[in-house]
Amino acid sequence: MAPIVSSFAAAVLLLLALASPAAGVNITRILGEFPDFSTFNGLLSQTKLADEINRRQTITVLAVNNGGMGGITSLPSDVQRKVLAVHVVLDYYDTEKLGSMKNRSAVLTTLFQSTGQATNRMGFINYTRRAADGVMMFGSAEPGAPLTSQMVKPVMSRPYNISVLEVSSAIVPPSIGSVDNSRAHAPAPAHTRTPAPAPPPSKSKKPMTPAPAPSDDDSSADAPADADGPDADGPAADGPDADAPDADDDTGDAAGRVGARASLGIVALLVILVSL
Ligand SMILES: *[C@@H]1O[C@H](CO)[C@@H](O)[C@H](O)[C@H]1NC(C)=O
Ligand SMILES: *[C@@H]1O[C@H](CO)[C@@H](O)[C@H](O)[C@H]1NC(C)=O
Ligand SMILES: *[C@@H]1O[C@H](CO)[C@@H](O)[C@H](O)[C@H]1NC(C)=O
Ligand SMILES: *[C@@H]1O[C@H](CO)[C@@H](O)[C@H](O)[C@H]1NC(C)=O
Repeated sequence: MAPIVSSFAAAVLLLLALASPAAGVNITRILGEFPDFSTFNGLLSQTKLADEINRRQTITVLAVNNGGMGGITSLPSDVQRKVLAVHVVLDYYDTEKLGSMKNRSAVLTTLFQSTGQATNRMGFINYTRRAADGVMMFGSAEPGAPLTSQMVKPVMSRPYNISVLEVSSAIVPPSIGSVDNSRAHAPAPAHTRTPAPAPPPSKSKKPMTPAPAPSDDDSSADAPADADGPDADGPAADGPDADAPDADDDTGDAAGRVGARASLGIVALLVILVSL
């Protein structure tokens, strides 16, 4: 019995080793090769979203260049983290895959959805290929959100693990600034001090659908004001992968993943057989 148990353990260890992020991506290093994305990259590290991206094996990052980052950097830091998480799609999409989708429009699930803080479809992106000219457009899937961020160019891709696409402007769900962290997870903190009213959520040049005014005075200032700044690491974002509304038929991708899994299984089986 013992040899079987130990070979099973060996197989498990091997699987863990193969699946470990050590072999995977380092988004900080990838974006580090492109000075145009230094602001975006810096914020991914500051908010620790980089670590979450690196833990994933199938991901698409919609990167905004330094010139377009004003729409994010002007936001309060806790909102910045949420907005950045909207730029991380939990599946692999390169321009080829987006262009060959049968539907012109699809809803893509983002990392923000997996935090459990998203409401009102804020955790999803609406991708639409414009009928007139085929331009690929992105916007928040929140009702009333504008579809104004355009595909600029593919930055890098490593099929089917990571793709980085440059988009022309930040994708900001109109009412993301009024999402209350405490509502979703922790009991509301006692009011030991009065938080300053949060600044208006958007200062970007493009006029956005006006966000609904926060209904009660305190809830808009998410969480207690945190002197430590962006370190306020929200609840573990590793929750269930809300992979729900994957409208497109990505059979190729699915097949790839199934294949990868199958080959891992075969390797594990071989290890067991060899060590018997
Ligand atoms: C790519 O993703 C597959 C599963 O989707 C995984 O098995 C593989 O380790 C990943 N490769 C890298 C370099 O992360
Ligand atoms: C990722 O790359 C950055 C920049 O090269 C480096 O500072 C960091 O330690 C790397 N992170 C991991 C987990 O390897
Ligand atoms: C995306 O937005 C466009 C324009 O607002 C809308 O017509 C379309 O139905 C949306 N797509 C999805 C999949 O929700
Ligand atoms: C295309 O979109 C329609 C309506 O939005 C949906 O019912 C259908 O399943 C989609 N088709 C594919 C192939 O994703």
